[in-house]
Amino acid sequence: MKNKTILKWAGSKVRIIEQLRPHLPKAKRLVEPFAGSCAVMMNTDYEQYLIADANPDLINLYNEIISMPVYLFINEADELFGYSSDNDGIYYYFRTIFNEQENKLSSVEKASLFLYLNRHCYNGLCRYNSKGGFNVPFGRYKKPYFPENEIVAFADKARNADITCLEWQDTLSLVDFGDGVYCDPPYMGSGFTQYHTAGFSDADHEALAIALKDINDIQGNPITVSNSPEATELYADLGFTIHEIDAPRTISATGNRKPAKEIIAVLEGGK
Ligand SMILES: C[S@@+](CC[C@H](N)C(=O)[O-])C[C@H]1O[C@@H](n2cnc3c(N)ncnc32)[C@H](O)[C@@H]1O
Repeated sequence: MKNKTILKWAGSKVRIIEQLRPHLPKAKRLVEPFAGSCAVMMNTDYEQYLIADANPDLINLYNEIISMPVYLFINEADELFGYSSDNDGIYYYFRTIFNEQENKLSSVEKASLFLYLNRHCYNGLCRYNSKGGFNVPFGRYKKPYFPENEIVAFADKARNADITCLEWQDTLSLVDFGDGVYCDPPYMGSGFTQYHTAGFSDADHEALAIALKDINDIQGNPITVSNSPEATELYADLGFTIHEIDAPRTISATGNRKPAKEIIAVLEGGK
C-alpha cells in the first residue's frame, strides 16, 4: 500500500514508488536533496534520512510538525480548514496574510497557512512571483482534504530524519561514506521550475549530474536520480545506468494528465 503525503506536490513520487523502489540505493541512511512532499521517505524503510529542500515554507512546515506534540499542530492547522472552502475571498485573504504579514506570523502560523494554501490552491501547485510571494490562484475544491493521518504518520517517521532547508550543493556536502543519495530535481525541459523563486536551468542539471558522479567516484555512495527523458544523454554519458518508466502525471504545467516517460538514472555504490 502506498502512503500518501501531507502536501499535494508537483513531481510527487507516490504514484511511481513501486517502479522507483527497486532502483533506490541500498544504504542505512538516505539523503534526499530535493525532498518535496517526502513521498520517498514515507514509502521506504531506511534507518535514517537526511531530508532537504530549498523551499523554506516547505521545510518550516515539516519542522513545525515535529517541534511539538503532533495534535497541537493538527489543532492549529485544522482550524483554518474550518473556514468555508468554496470561498475564494477567504483563500485570497489567507494568501495575502501569508505573503504580506510574514514578519508578524509565528512559524506555526506560517506552517498552517502554507498547508491551507497547498490544499486549497489550483492543483496543489507551489509557485512564487519574482518577489517571493506565493501566487497560485484559488482551486475550487468541494471539500479540501485535511491530511490528519498523513501528518501523524509524518511526525512518526520523521523521528529518524534530519530535516533542513538547503540548496542541493550544501546537502551533497553532508553526504557521508555509506549514505545512499536520491535526487529528484525539477525535471529538465519541463518548464516547471518555480517551486521556489529561482529556476533550475540546464547548467544546474549538468552541475548536479557531475557533482553526483564525483561523490560516487570519490566516496563510493550509491546514487539514484529521477528526471525526464531529456536528461538521458547527460546521465548516460557520465556512466549512469538508465531505466525508463511510464509515470502517471498528477500535476503538470499545462494541465496535461497523460502518462509521461521518465528516467531513473543509477550509479551503483563502490568502495
Ligand atoms: C520534483 S520535486 C521533488 C518531489 C519529491 N520527490 C516528492 O516525491 O514529492 C523537486 C523539488 O526540488 C526543490 N528544489 C528546486 N530547486 C532546488 C535547489 N536548487 N536545491 C534544492 N531543492 C530544490 C523544489 O522545492 C521541489 O520540492
